[in-house]
Amino acid sequence: AQTDKGAYPYYMLKEIDEQAVVARTLAGHYFNDEGEIVGIGCAIGDTIKQADRLYIIAAGTSYHAGLVGKRYFENWANIPTEVHIASEFAYDQPLLSEHPFFIFLSQSGETADSREVLDNIKRQGFPTLTIANVMNSTLTREADFALPVLAGPEIAVASTKAYTAQIIVQAILAYSLGEVELDLKQELAKVAVEIQAITDEKATFQAIAESALKDQHSAFYIGRGLDAAVALEAALKLKEISYIQTEGFAAGELKHGTISLIEEGTPVFALLTQAKTAGLLRGEVAQVAARGANTITISSKSLARPDDAYVLPEVDELLMPLLAVIPAQLIAYYATLARGLDVDRPRNLAKSVTVQ
Ligand code: G6P
Repeated sequence: AQTDKGAYPYYMLKEIDEQAVVARTLAGHYFNDEGEIVGIGCAIGDTIKQADRLYIIAAGTSYHAGLVGKRYFENWANIPTEVHIASEFAYDQPLLSEHPFFIFLSQSGETADSREVLDNIKRQGFPTLTIANVMNSTLTREADFALPVLAGPEIAVASTKAYTAQIIVQAILAYSLGEVELDLKQELAKVAVEIQAITDEKATFQAIAESALKDQHSAFYIGRGLDAAVALEAALKLKEISYIQTEGFAAGELKHGTISLIEEGTPVFALLTQAKTAGLLRGEVAQVAARGANTITISSKSLARPDDAYVLPEVDELLMPLLAVIPAQLIAYYATLARGLDVDRPRNLAKSVTVQ
């Protein structure tokens, strides 16, 4: 059954591995054999095209997926996009544009913070779309439109496949709205192959996790641009299950404060997949290394240097978050395992938070 762990010791590991299949499933659902979009009703596109701004509303890992999705809506569909934390937006609604369109991102479709915003927005009469993994959920039923994430049941509290699947659905939606010089269906097939290639190298990530994190009480993930967005999710994965206090942030901010936390041996993971800022990020890695940090750089092939800890295969640069997050998920998994903790059920957390 889909909810069976099978030979896996933990659901999280199974769900990490399933990400290649999910990428294929989504390509198969949303595209026909000719590479045309078929899985998105015309009404959704027509309504979004009337909007002057998109507002993505989400919590936790789904919020982090929204930070990546913003780039597709802006770069491919040419629509200004804001991403908001549901619990903040619910009580401090910012000044909206004249014709806003709201996208709710959620694994469960039941998060109370997001539901509160949806209620508020419906009262104001603005159009809404929910992108969720659980289709017959409150958020999908109550929005004007809904699109499925198709990741299959996600059991581990730490979200993995729902994150990558939400990113893919946003990419497909943005792609359907614009004219993009890219065969996205083809590119997603490549993404699936490369995710598989990364998940096949578990021993590498186990070794990195054990050597860099076993006796640490703090760690950092840094990046720039899309890598800064992935750094937030990478840090959340590591902290929520291993209990190692981990910060993820935009690397350029190091010098404005955080660099004072670097001590001898502090692990600093750098995600380096964006060509425009690779040079700057190399400089930041050198700065923390000079202060004693244990730097672990995860780079993409064309930007790699010989002593990088791991070199990612390459797909379209905007889709690199789909690959860059996989090592972080596996490192979080193996760090937690090495500490003897329950990977699937971290303390104090719930899979779905239905109270505000
Ligand atoms: C909980 C889960 C997180 C999840 C967040 C948002 O806190 O533990 O993994 O990202 O809720 O949930 P949603 O179902 O709306 O994506």
